[in-house]
Amino acid sequence: MNKNSINIIFAQPEHADYAEQICQLIYESALQRGTGIARRSPEYIASKITGGKAVVALSGDRLVGFSYIECWGHGDYVATSGLIVDPEFRHLGLAGEIKKRTFELARLRFPFAKLFSITTSLPVMKLNTRLGYKPVTFSELTQDDEFWQGCEGCCNYDILKRNNRRMCLCTGMLYDPKTPLVKQSWWSPYAMAIKNAIKKIFHLK
Ligand SMILES: CC(C)(COP(=O)(O)OP(=O)(O)OC[C@H]1O[C@@H](n2cnc3c(N)ncnc32)[C@H](O)[C@@H]1OP(=O)(O)O)[C@@H](O)C(=O)NCCC(=O)NCCS
Repeated sequence: MNKNSINIIFAQPEHADYAEQICQLIYESALQRGTGIARRSPEYIASKITGGKAVVALSGDRLVGFSYIECWGHGDYVATSGLIVDPEFRHLGLAGEIKKRTFELARLRFPFAKLFSITTSLPVMKLNTRLGYKPVTFSELTQDDEFWQGCEGCCNYDILKRNNRRMCLCTGMLYDPKTPLVKQSWWSPYAMAIKNAIKKIFHLK
């Protein structure tokens, strides 16, 4: 598989046709990993695509990767979400490229917003760290109820609720455009992943 033949672009309205396939990819990957995931409908994904808030990776006309952004708290925050790479196209560095494009899109469209992501995924922690995101407590993320309602479809939602939205199995990561970029240690994403594993063992009881 050659990564150079894959186009990673800001999604155009015609890419909304891929919405169903994207949902299926996200759902199947979550089942495989046995992790929680905020479920999204094809209509929701299509609205991100037509609204100019998504990035697609295409090999010819085959969709092989996706991510989208959404703003919360009246535009003070932007979340990057829904990152997925087709299993046949993994380990080529595609997620890194999609993350970079998504970051670029978020900074272009919402230059003053803080960017954040919540994740249990080590690859995502690594990629976010490289872009300048730092691990933070949930209290530093948007308090917009609608964002957190998105977690209701996740199998770990009871943990989030039980902890009054202060923490869950995901790690919160934030990029603040006002804070100068400080290069973080290569060890930082691994430390987050270990913390995550410990949280999972104790279920944050
Ligand atoms: C996570 C995912 C997007 C990674 O896609 P990918 O294109 O294979 O990732 P990349 O090739 O760009 O790799 C990025 C980094 O993560 C590492 N990585 C990738 N998959 C990994 C895995 N399963 N376990 C540990 N590290 C992994 C790579 O080694 C690379 O690190 P490096 O640059 O230090 O070598 C892909 O596996 C996927 O779609 N998973 C299911 C959905 C998901 O978990 N999304 C994130 C939800 S928050």
